Order: sequence, then C-alpha cells, then structure tokens
Amino acid sequence: MPIKHFLQFRDFATDEFDYLFARTRWIKDQFKAYKQYWPLTDRTLVMIFEKASTRTRLSFEAGMQQLGGSAIYLNTRDSQLGRGEPVEDAAQVISRMSDIVMIRTFEQEIIERFAANSRVPIINGLTNEYHPCQIMADIYTYIEHRGPIQGKTVAWVGDSNNVCNTWLQAAEVLDFKVRVSTPPGYEVEADRAGLHGTGHFEQFPDPMDACRGADLVTTDVWTSMGFEAENEKRLKAFADWCVDGDMMRVANRDAVFMHCLPAHRGEEVTAEVIDGPQSVVWDEAENRLHVQKALMEYLLLGRVETK
Ligand code: CP
Ligand code: NVA
Repeated sequence: MPIKHFLQFRDFATDEFDYLFARTRWIKDQFKAYKQYWPLTDRTLVMIFEKASTRTRLSFEAGMQQLGGSAIYLNTRDSQLGRGEPVEDAAQVISRMSDIVMIRTFEQEIIERFAANSRVPIINGLTNEYHPCQIMADIYTYIEHRGPIQGKTVAWVGDSNNVCNTWLQAAEVLDFKVRVSTPPGYEVEADRAGLHGTGHFEQFPDPMDACRGADLVTTDVWTSMGFEAENEKRLKAFADWCVDGDMMRVANRDAVFMHCLPAHRGEEVTAEVIDGPQSVVWDEAENRLHVQKALMEYLLLGRVETK
C-alpha cells in the first residue's frame, strides 16, 4: 500500500476530512474526560524544525504522548540537517528509526523530496507555501462554534501567505468561499496556492469589501518566518490591512474571528478584535492538539471506528 502523507490540504478528499473532524470530536471528548486512549503505544514521532514554533511543537509532542507514543525533537541548529546532509539521505535514515515524521521547513519542495524518500508518513508542520494542520484546526473550530463550513464565506485580510494559500485549497476541497484582500503587489498567486480555479475565491482591493457578509474573518502576521528582511517595507504596505472593529461590523452578526497565532496586536489585528467576543483564537490554538491526534492516528492506523 502506498504511504499516505499530509503535505498539503488537498492531499485528502472531502470524505477524509469528514472522517477526521468526527474523529477529532471523539478524541477531544476522551481527553476532556481524562480517559486514557493509547492507540499509538511504542510509536515514535520525529519532529523536524527548521523554523521556530510554540504551538506546533507543543501540540504534536503532547498529542503523541497522549496517544501512548513518544516524540523526538530535531532542529537544524544541533543536528546534521543544518550542515548540508542531503534531504534524501536524512529521510532514509530518520524514517528507518521512526513511525511518523512532522516537518516545519522553508520550500514545499524540501518536504516533497523528504516524503519521496521516506518509509513512513510525513506531515507538513508549515512550509513557505502551506500550513495544512492549521487550517484543519481552524475548520474544526468553525464547525464546533457554528456548524458545517460548506457554503460559508471566509474573509482573509493581509498577506497571501502559507496560511492563506491553505485556506484557498480548503475552500476547493470543502466547498466554501474565500474572499481575499491584500495590499497591491501582495495578491494571491494561483499557481503558488496550488488552486484548480474552481471559483471558490475572489480578490478585493478594499479589505472592507472582503469582510462584508463574511461568516469568518481571519488574518495572520504581515511578515512570515523567512521573510524578516522585508519587515520594514511590509509594515508600511500593510498598514490599512489591520482587522478592526469596522471590518467585524460589516461581517455577518455571528461571524467569528480567527488568527493562527502568534499575533501582533496593532498590526494585523486590533486588541479590540482579537480579545473581543467574536474571537475564537484560544479554541483554535487548542484544537491543533485534537485535530493532529486524529491525523496521526489516521496516517498510522487508517480509519478507526468511533464507538
Ligand atoms: N500557529 C502556529 O503554527 O504556531 P507556532 O508557530 O507557534 O507553531
Ligand atoms: N505565516 C506565518 C505563520 C506562523 C504560524 C509564518 O509562516 O511565519
């Protein structure tokens, strides 16, 4: 059987996400009831970080332990990965000593080369192009708060980055709309986002127009990891793309606000919004743990019947 990886959102079909969201609910309920659930005893997750992380490391490491397995953290600073060992060689070796690997790196191409040489499933923990685990958590959070996302409208305000690209892919897979507003020169590149052009997204020069009537308003940092040299230029270019109370007021009355975090209050979002009543960012962050437990279980054991 070919190994299943989760390298970008569209690697899974609609019915697989339906399964994973239902499974997440069950796994989360067990966790909340302090019920031990150890389907991955003796399994080892290797986590490779070429960029910083709080949530991704914590949620994968805690998640694997809660499923009965163990997790090993590697970074480029103190492993051979940062000293030019070919990705293909690293993949051969790491995948012979572990059961599943999560990677946070730069170009998507790196994770694809790793996966092509791996004996075990690979999970994308963020690349320059995508952040699929984040959007799984975001959509699960939307479902928890408001029900199915199909047919809904998501407004993305800010940079057309890895998180934005993943929302765009998710809209095609799960059939909802994404309205994107970026400053001029930072628009979505359909090729980079890996879109099929199914009409699930629209771009708006004015962020207010993107937010009007939206069910979910979301944003992210103006400068992603790896692009720090552009920070000064971006601070000026993005100044009008700060999600504020006015944007939330033109969205639907029951719209929720999400942010993958870490956030910069006063830049991409005001404190009024992120700390306000429509914000679900803490549930969103917590749900990284629960969706990724369902994801690891699925990649290692396939579909498990929920009792
Ligand atoms: N949202 C997210 O991936 O956070 P970290 O960078 O802290 O992992
Ligand atoms: N777009 C951000 C997300 C961080 C979780 C980055 O890539 O830095």
